[in-house]
Amino acid sequence: MGRIPIFQWANEANPLSLTSKFILPQLNRPNPTCVSHLDSVPIIDMGTDNEAQLIQEIKSACQGFGFFQVVNHGIPLELCKNALDVNTKLFHLPYEEKSHLVTTTHLEDGKIFKYYVKDQQTQEKISMWAETFFHTWHPHDHGFTHNLPNNPPQYRSVIAAYATEVGSLIVKLLGLISRGLGLERDYLKTKLGQNLSYTAQANYYPPCPNPELTLGLPAHTDYNVLTILLQEEGVTGLHVLKDGNWVAVDPVPGALVVNVADQLQILSNDRYKSVYHRAVTNEEKKRVSLAMFVGPNHDTVVEPIEELIDENHPALYRRYTFGEFVREFRNQEGKPRKVKEVFK
Ligand code: SIN
Ligand code: FE2
Repeated sequence: MGRIPIFQWANEANPLSLTSKFILPQLNRPNPTCVSHLDSVPIIDMGTDNEAQLIQEIKSACQGFGFFQVVNHGIPLELCKNALDVNTKLFHLPYEEKSHLVTTTHLEDGKIFKYYVKDQQTQEKISMWAETFFHTWHPHDHGFTHNLPNNPPQYRSVIAAYATEVGSLIVKLLGLISRGLGLERDYLKTKLGQNLSYTAQANYYPPCPNPELTLGLPAHTDYNVLTILLQEEGVTGLHVLKDGNWVAVDPVPGALVVNVADQLQILSNDRYKSVYHRAVTNEEKKRVSLAMFVGPNHDTVVEPIEELIDENHPALYRRYTFGEFVREFRNQEGKPRKVKEVFK
């Protein structure tokens, strides 16, 4: 029996066509005239000798935008380029070759899937203009690569090397973020426990004939602790919500984008912000990005950090396990998410 693709997967030879299943209701369409390129998320030099200033810069970025870009982050730029290249090659494989990776369920390890949102009026599913590859990772135990494709042939080795580097950067950032909260350097690392959960998502946005009608990723907050995003240079797609307005995160050569996710907002008792962001599409160019997430283990208890609670700062969230949070997150799939509110 011939395989009928559930989605029409894109590649250079077979561009997607903008059928109605991709066209968002008027209200949800990205309006390019309302996106600021003037305001910018902070660009932070991690190569500085002035650590006190670095801690301060990261702290104010986490309080303000909830997003920042880091340069001189210590990850070889060639490795960053290769990590995007192997993902580009994966998404460019013909459908027949990647069909064994395709799932219709979200967030399955080592699978390609598509996002959708539900039209609030008709409840119809609207597909996002992107293919997304979700998988787990680990900084040191590279056994995870067995869930990864072996074509392109360098996929596993490149992602393993990149994972180790991102793991070190995350440890550095958690230390600096802890210090910015007035805590010991290893506070967050210890609080989150030995057994962290590591997940990754590569996104591929083919050129779109009319970017004003579609989205690559719907507006969302990330549900883990921290995200390290590598984005392709020369094409903007990421927008961050700041004071009710969308601000473009234009790629900076050699930079990685870092953002606060829900668990860090909750641990910090709302001192740091996990903000809405989205990806838009582009008429001329494809765009590839790779997000590496770190979060607690499913059994880890999360609650606002005791040292950050006092008379003037009562706890804004209840105690829960991260597993409970993930269940609620999945319950709200395809809808505009209000997960954090459930844990108030
Ligand atoms: C995200 O992971 O939410 C953003 C992805 C992107 O910028 O492509
Ligand atoms: Fe995200």
